[in-house]
Amino acid sequence: MQHERFHYRTLDELKEKAKELEIQLPLAKDTKILMTPYTFGHVTLPNRVGIAPMEGADGLPDGSPSELTVNRYVREAEGGSGMIWFEAISIVPEGRSSLHQLMLTRDNLDAYKKMTEAVKEAGRRANGFAPYLVMQANHSGRYSNPQGKPAPMIAYRHPEYEKLRKADDSCIVSDDYLKSLEEKFGEAAWLAREAGFDAVDIKSCHGYLLAELSSAYIRPGMYGGSFENRTRLLRNGIQAAKAYETDQFLVTARIGIYDGFAYPYGFGVKEGEGIIPNLEEPIRLIRELHEDYQMPMVNLTMGNPYVSIHVTRPYDMGKYIPDEHPLYGIARMIHGIGEVKKAVPQMAISASAPTYLRQYSDLYAAGAIEEGLCDQMLFGRLSFADPDFPNQIRDTGRIDRKGVCDMRKVRGSDPCRETDRMCGEKSRKLSEILSGISGGESMKQTAIVTGGSRGIGLAIAKQLGLDGYQVVVFATKPLEDCMEHLKELEEAGITWHYISGTIDNREDRKRLVEETIETFGRIDVLVNNAGVAPLVRADLLEMTEESYDRVMGINAKGTMFLTQLVANQMLKQEVIGRKRGTIVNVGSCSAEVSSISRGEYCISKSAIAMITKLFADRLAGEGILVHEVRPGVIMTDMTSTVKEKYDRLIAEGTFPIPRWGTPEDVAGAVSALCSDQFLYTTGNYIDIDGGFHIKRL
Ligand SMILES: Cc1cc2nc3c(=O)[nH]c(=O)nc-3n(C[C@H](O)[C@H](O)[C@H](O)COP(=O)(O)O)c2cc1C
Repeated sequence: MQHERFHYRTLDELKEKAKELEIQLPLAKDTKILMTPYTFGHVTLPNRVGIAPMEGADGLPDGSPSELTVNRYVREAEGGSGMIWFEAISIVPEGRSSLHQLMLTRDNLDAYKKMTEAVKEAGRRANGFAPYLVMQANHSGRYSNPQGKPAPMIAYRHPEYEKLRKADDSCIVSDDYLKSLEEKFGEAAWLAREAGFDAVDIKSCHGYLLAELSSAYIRPGMYGGSFENRTRLLRNGIQAAKAYETDQFLVTARIGIYDGFAYPYGFGVKEGEGIIPNLEEPIRLIRELHEDYQMPMVNLTMGNPYVSIHVTRPYDMGKYIPDEHPLYGIARMIHGIGEVKKAVPQMAISASAPTYLRQYSDLYAAGAIEEGLCDQMLFGRLSFADPDFPNQIRDTGRIDRKGVCDMRKVRGSDPCRETDRMCGEKSRKLSEILSGISGGESMKQTAIVTGGSRGIGLAIAKQLGLDGYQVVVFATKPLEDCMEHLKELEEAGITWHYISGTIDNREDRKRLVEETIETFGRIDVLVNNAGVAPLVRADLLEMTEESYDRVMGINAKGTMFLTQLVANQMLKQEVIGRKRGTIVNVGSCSAEVSSISRGEYCISKSAIAMITKLFADRLAGEGILVHEVRPGVIMTDMTSTVKEKYDRLIAEGTFPIPRWGTPEDVAGAVSALCSDQFLYTTGNYIDIDGGFHIKRL
């Protein structure tokens, strides 16, 4: 059955839909089992509710956790989870997913010690117990962006993965390199233990390096081909980590048991059976981990969060709409995990991906445990929206509906209207999270760049993409006509979306905001770069009203009303950084410098200066900062027609820095203003003009 959005107002409606789809969802009568102890190895946890690893992309450049990172985990500990499975932490610099991904090293060990102490202490203080902390040791493999730029390190050429992210033969890592990582996993385990974690997870899921190796049927050499070879690095990494095991410190693994791709490109499938899951090999792996490596507990998951996102985490809206009902995804996940549990009952198994079921995810987790499909459930997106959910279950038997119910769009029933009123901040948070995180494994922010298909706008879009934003490019031409330039974004591995329209058109502005929300879920940055020069340069005494209206309509009116629309959207959103949003207006030195042959342009740019001040004033108290950059003479299409004039002026020394400005000069300034380096600045402008504004004698 086709994809549809979540719309179940009662448990019965959900059960009815499951029946119609002919799937079986484990839904318990109550959640009592979730608050019973969970035992594996020598460990007993007070409950069976855990937090899934969720990369926050808020680490510091040296890999240590930032204040935001620590606060997030402290909140989760206070919320009452028995276990917190920390996000992916890189084991080597070249395997980092971004400059903001956590990376534990000998140099920043103290920062991690402080974090685990703070998290455990928060749990003890709030709930009388410290949560069990698992560190996820990872190598991002083909998703490595160590310097903020893609530097894929792949196991083999994968046509599905490479549709989205380019790679070539030179990206295939050598056997020697893979061999060297075995020891790195050992070191990661030692570091994790010293940092105060209770366990280390040798991560093999979601298409990262170890998981990709598990399907490397076509790779030659000792890490490809046979089951033994494909799982060699995982098993040897675990072996290396086990050297540091103690009664208080365990080695575990998060294993992807099914990728969602047919043989020879996916784990958990069989040749000739297409994408139908065949769990023979995953079961063998889990059995061996238990019997040969004495691993007492694993977490199981599926899919790839970039390409087969719906397999990892079913959703309503996202990067693509899959060709299946989201409840199928839920059923595939839990029954796949259940098949492994039934085949290897002695292994304690924690399951994944309950959040799509929102207010019923607690009964679902309880049902899965009652039916013997797993022993514990890790909650992902829900924990971002409402970290207190475990204590709500403890205290009231259920997750607080206000925290998870997403019924705002459903009309026509009394209970629902009631819910509409009740659903507040948390509900909005979850619906944003469910629709907003559309690809990858980090809570990325979104930037809109108008006029972003070439010149200064394209340079800004690219720079913000490299800074980690997912970027919406808005420009007038159809996408095909811009691809020649936009492929730069693709090649840089940037997540981007193109919307065509003009900012002086009310409907286009509205569509820009709506489509951005549909695609990426939120707007964190708006760069008002779109602007036009007069079609004909005419003396002030000859300027036509038509030209004035055109230039003012796009440059001034368009900027004014798009900013208004976006600011209102930002006000509705959950803050996920240190400010609610940033707006940067691309003005011009023409705001002050008179050019009597294009007066309408100068007037429009001085209007931008006032728009900057007005919005800065209005939005400062809301946490939205508004800035302006004023480019001088920049080498773009717009100035190409007057190149000789400016070449001459540069040669004559008109500009203290004697060269043309570049789009990248402007992009660098915009990037800095969007960062957290200017948190006590708003309503200002920066001249990007080689010093042209300096008055000289
Ligand atoms: C923003 C985000 C970040 C994630 N980061 C990680 C990660 O670091 N490691 C990992 O194994 N899974 C990661 N995941 C996957 C989640 O752990 C989880 O498997 C997935 O969200 C499904 O669970 P849910 O339905 O409860 O959200 C991430 C998911 C999201 C949405």
